[in-house]
Amino acid sequence: MTEPLIKVQDVIYPRLRVPDLEKMERFLVDFGMEVSARTADTLYLRGTEIDHHIHVIERGAPAIAGLAFQARSMEDLSKLSSAKGASKVEPTNEPGGGYRVVMTDPAGFQVETVFGIEALERIPVESLGLNLGPRVERKSEFKRVTDRPARIKRLGHVGINVVDPDAVFDWYHAHFGILRADSISIGDINLAHFCRMDRDEGYTDHHSVLIGRAPDGIPGLNHMSWEVSDLDDMWIGQERLLDAEHDHTWGIGRHTLGSQIFDYWRDPWGQIHEHYTDGDLVNEAHEWTVHGPEGAASQWGPQMPDHFGRTHQAASKEGNSK
Ligand SMILES: [Fe+2]
Repeated sequence: MTEPLIKVQDVIYPRLRVPDLEKMERFLVDFGMEVSARTADTLYLRGTEIDHHIHVIERGAPAIAGLAFQARSMEDLSKLSSAKGASKVEPTNEPGGGYRVVMTDPAGFQVETVFGIEALERIPVESLGLNLGPRVERKSEFKRVTDRPARIKRLGHVGINVVDPDAVFDWYHAHFGILRADSISIGDINLAHFCRMDRDEGYTDHHSVLIGRAPDGIPGLNHMSWEVSDLDDMWIGQERLLDAEHDHTWGIGRHTLGSQIFDYWRDPWGQIHEHYTDGDLVNEAHEWTVHGPEGAASQWGPQMPDHFGRTHQAASKEGNSK
């Protein structure tokens, strides 16, 4: 593999465009985020961790406005700005401040790389021990879960559908240092690359970027995924979203690659937002493995719906989503 220009720390937020910010805010608050800032035309949402925003919603015709990586240093931003097609290092001019370099990937998605965005105070989340199997951690403490949305911690990963996942992976590796943790293939054709950050011996999510082959040849968003606090948040989060009559897509189940317990929802414009908990962490000891598609999606839970993983525009054409 070629030596990458920089190694990014993590994926930090997707950026979507929708015509009705108030309607999107209602969905995302039910989903478990809090508004950290708003301007006339943009909403910034946070989780319980310190990131100033983990989702950005702009007012406009429905579209994917891109995804963002967290750089490790200003020096890395400068290095990245030397890449072909990259912007200069520029102030974000957004709430939270900081600097960014903007690029366009080979599939046409805008990719921001940011550094220096203000950190927020962590929102405290009570955490009782678990009494599961050999683990006995909770004694004389009683689990009571109040009626509330799931508590979103942070962005976990963003999945994109592209025409040529191999070329797109090569581009992300060359610029940001991401590596494949696992891939799904049929024969010589790669269907999806589950990509992780390169933190050497440090641990990172099994995948932070999923680069999938667009099943219908239409590039777009596959899904976006945020980590919730614990198992109770998966189920209480589902109850809150069902009560509010949001559009449930797939779950609750446990994935195979990444092992997350998952639950998927469509926002009012059809883009897929995932809750997950209990995902795998890997480091440099993890070896990239290529798998067949059989059983790759989940270990238990409902069967993946046929329309899942297609870009929303494609699904709409066939009447499979709102
Ligand atoms: Fe996911």
